[in-house]
Amino acid sequence: MDAAKTVLITGGTGFIGSHTAVELMAAGYETVIVDNLCNSDKSVIEGIEKIAGRKVDFVEGDTCDIEFMRDVFRTYEFDSVIHFAAHKAVGESVADPLKYYRNNLVSFMNIVELMKENGRSNVLFSSSATVYGEAETLPVTEETPRQPATSPYGNTKQISEDILRDCCRAYEGLYGIALRYFNPIGAHPSALIGELPIGVPNNLVPYITQTAAGIRKELSIFGNDYDTPDGTCLRDYIDVVDLAKAHVAAVDRMTQGRMDRKYEIYNIGTGRPVSVLELVQRFSKVNGIELPYRFVARRAGDTPAVWADASLANEVLGWKAGRDLDDTLRASWLWQQRLM
Ligand code: NAD
Ligand code: UFG
Repeated sequence: MDAAKTVLITGGTGFIGSHTAVELMAAGYETVIVDNLCNSDKSVIEGIEKIAGRKVDFVEGDTCDIEFMRDVFRTYEFDSVIHFAAHKAVGESVADPLKYYRNNLVSFMNIVELMKENGRSNVLFSSSATVYGEAETLPVTEETPRQPATSPYGNTKQISEDILRDCCRAYEGLYGIALRYFNPIGAHPSALIGELPIGVPNNLVPYITQTAAGIRKELSIFGNDYDTPDGTCLRDYIDVVDLAKAHVAAVDRMTQGRMDRKYEIYNIGTGRPVSVLELVQRFSKVNGIELPYRFVARRAGDTPAVWADASLANEVLGWKAGRDLDDTLRASWLWQQRLM
């Protein structure tokens, strides 16, 4: 394996990691996936291999276990890591903060620690639009000030960004990029990989597809009295395949030594706000399914509106969201049907 062309993907059997593995392989990279399967399934590897048309190196284990990770670093040679491995349920993080601080921060510190011993090395971190909280100006740019985190989950993203910034500053040879994702949705158009929500989904699109499938009785739309055009919240829904390609662009930039600074941040979104109601209606229309829904009270902690100014990623990474929202919603439904 050529270290410069090999990428370690932690959390690589998860939703975003699996799509990213596919796109990295399509771009000519080798991938090594580490995942403890706490929120994914080993069968995802088969889906990745079918799409990519080749074998994937998969190692089952916990990124919080530094001795296990040391073994992975001894076995494989790579210059870059994409760190997806984390817990991500906002509500659960409020109920059990230690679970989140331990898993999300210990795993990330292990990765940075091992990478800094690796000579020239590149760390790509999965951050989130959650760091902007309720922003004063919209759309948000990378310069928009972060707001104090409203959940332990959000706090782990802010702290991890700071860890990466400080370590890149301190350790020669260590380069970092944080990608701040907006709302990732969709599935691979082949329907061979997609999102596997465990239990009752918290996120909008999995709830929509499960309602369409008859698994849930109706969708609750949280709040229709916001100060937005139709009263429901505005979000920036980014197709997971587009999001995966943003990772390839960022890895290219790192491995080709094109970074202007040792630590860079990019918003990864479409730049287009879409309301909850609009998303529900479009899903019904493109898939020809009547979706039962009703308006209920606002959900605690929801930001009325957030969408990205992604011009920095467009210009510097040469990346742009390209998939049509209707196609994304078709892919989501196709994937849900595959699951049944
Ligand atoms: P996911 O749960 O589908 O994938 C995460 C993967 O990490 C899972 O396969 C899980 O088994 C694995 N994992 C968790 N802890 C681990 C550990 N200690 N050791 C090894 N593997 C571990 O989630 P996703 O939606 O693919 O998210 C990936 C990353 O992107 C996460 O860091 C998440 O916080 C971030 N993110 C996600 C969203 C979103 O809406 N999906 C938005 C912004 C940021
Ligand atoms: N919503 C509903 N009904 C549902 C689920 C969601 O109306 O059953 C609404 C929410 O109120 C919100 C919108 O749909 O207005 C999107 O909600 P999601 O839960 O899908 O996504 P969020 O914007 O709340 O959060 C997502 C990720 C977080 C991440 C955040 C960053 O889930 O991990 O984006 O902005 F931190």
